[in-house]
Amino acid sequence: MYSKETIERFRNPKNTGEIPNADAVGEVGNMKCGDVMKIYLKVEKNKIKDIKFQTYGCMAAIASSDMLCELAKGKTLDEALNIKFSDITKGLGELPQIKIHCSVLGTHALKKAIENYKSNN
Ligand code: FES
Repeated sequence: MYSKETIERFRNPKNTGEIPNADAVGEVGNMKCGDVMKIYLKVEKNKIKDIKFQTYGCMAAIASSDMLCELAKGKTLDEALNIKFSDITKGLGELPQIKIHCSVLGTHALKKAIENYKSNN
């Protein structure tokens, strides 16, 4: 059902929390399941210097948020925009089909945070 990586990231996420004085924030929700994700970014020289998340949702949403942060850290904003939900699911060692939308929600939250940064800078 869930991979070891998904369970481990759900139990011990490495990137959870808020970044005080974040340069950008992106928040999205899924109307159907009610899960909400918030992504905080610290940007330096067009690169994601730090990224954290706050997610109120299922195991897959939390593990996906954590994996997303891992994948985005250190990337330029444009590189980070190219992160696909399949990169997240691959990093997690796949997700059950009905949980794929949790990884998609992560990419939307990141996109929103980057758009927020671009519109403010
Ligand atoms: Fe909807 Fe996980 S069940 S984001």
